[in-house]
Amino acid sequence: MSTTERSGSLESGAVAERNDSLSVTDNRTGESFEIPITDGTVKAMDFRQMKVSEDDFGLMTYDPAFTNTASCRSEITYIDGEAGVLEHRGYSIEALCKHSSYLEVAYLLIHGELPTKDQHDEWVHEVTIHTYVHEGMKRFLQGFRYDAHPMGMLLAGVGALSTFYPTAKNIDDPDERHMAAVRLIAKMPTLAAFAYRHSMGLPYVYPDNDLWYPANFLSMLYKMAEAKYDADPRLTRALDVLFILHADHEQNCSTSAVRSVGSSQVDPYSAVAAGVAALYGPLHGGANEAVLRMLDRIETVENIPSFLEGVKSGDERLMGFGHRVYKNYDPRARIIKTNVDEVLEVTGMNPKLEIAVELEKRALDDEYFTSRKLYPNVDFYSGLIYEALEIPPAMFTVIFAIPRTAGWVAQWLEMVDDSDTKIARPRQIYSGERERDYVSLDER
Ligand code: SDX
Repeated sequence: MSTTERSGSLESGAVAERNDSLSVTDNRTGESFEIPITDGTVKAMDFRQMKVSEDDFGLMTYDPAFTNTASCRSEITYIDGEAGVLEHRGYSIEALCKHSSYLEVAYLLIHGELPTKDQHDEWVHEVTIHTYVHEGMKRFLQGFRYDAHPMGMLLAGVGALSTFYPTAKNIDDPDERHMAAVRLIAKMPTLAAFAYRHSMGLPYVYPDNDLWYPANFLSMLYKMAEAKYDADPRLTRALDVLFILHADHEQNCSTSAVRSVGSSQVDPYSAVAAGVAALYGPLHGGANEAVLRMLDRIETVENIPSFLEGVKSGDERLMGFGHRVYKNYDPRARIIKTNVDEVLEVTGMNPKLEIAVELEKRALDDEYFTSRKLYPNVDFYSGLIYEALEIPPAMFTVIFAIPRTAGWVAQWLEMVDDSDTKIARPRQIYSGERERDYVSLDER
């Protein structure tokens, strides 16, 4: 909407002086206030002045899931949920998936510009030579039960990394921040692959620095007695595109967790471990695993109508559908759907794809879903690619965490440098009891 339109009807050619503010009257006192509007927001603290008495704390805003609250300024990722637009530092996700690589996108997220050839090669070299983890990390991971969920192992492993790099606590040191960024991006695939090998009872495979990022990850997952693991380049490219698609997504649940925990000035490994924990949840990164289990439960196309009835009656959630921001088709889902066809050409048809495509079609023909603006999100088709790569469902969210590390790190770096950053400490509406007398045990 242009400024002219927003200011209502105008004399032709004249543009009324628009007053970017709210005029608020507190009807409890009759007092009026002018609240400035900046970047489409008002400051919650501007409402604190509205009191009914001198000792009144003042008005707060109540927004339990931050559904309408901007927690920070950021220049990293732009999303237009209505239009289904996703850009990183101004570059469309479509262009980045077509022309870039995950490590180049990671550089872009962190530095704000695409790297020159020398910068790119230096960055890739730095990440490559930091893929190993301390042997103590191996022993730590070997302490988990054979059936430990790999996300639980990754969560613990990332936290444990903070103990191997104690100087990372010096978050004001640019070199320490840079090294933590490199180490987190470099070591996440190694920890992820070690967790997988642990769950399979297989020996851990060390990083192969001759291989590029996604190929090295597949090698650490699947290499056995062969001298060198040779992944199909079409599959490594598909995995790299998936990594790009999952790299960052502005203030999602896990990134918010990283920023909130990071605001206490803890080291970045501990802050990123909080992001891993948030991503683990089935409403967030855990949805891709839940989609596969949902498709397994549906079993055949014929069962789709009864399943959708179960969703509409509230017995089920259509996992992989819906989004807090996208009220249109998630652009990442559209790209992944194309990727699925390319991967299945290599690995062979997956009957679950037919169910997923029909499920999407039926849901998008159904007013229950369209009225709630529920469209496929990034998790709806991604699991089909992971399954085609013979990755078990329990590893799907781990594979989401690998590339999201670049986003978590970039957002953490931006937060550390932001002069507005203070320790995150929300207020509350207290609705409990007050001033009760203690009753001794024998009188209760
Ligand atoms: C990710 O934030 C990000 O950017 C996340 C992410 C990223 O890259 O970081 O994009 C990754 O987490 C994608 C989302 C993956 N999660 C799922 O696929 C799980 C299924 N989807 C949801 O549970 C849900 O849609 C959320 C959690 C994604 C969004 O929830 P909201 O914004 O809080 O929406 P809501 O729960 O208030 O739902 C609004 C309405 C409700 O119906 P009514 O109460 O109005 O009757 O839509 C319904 C919900 O019941 N609804 C669904 C539904 N999602 C919402 N009904 C059935 N199936 C669903 N999936």
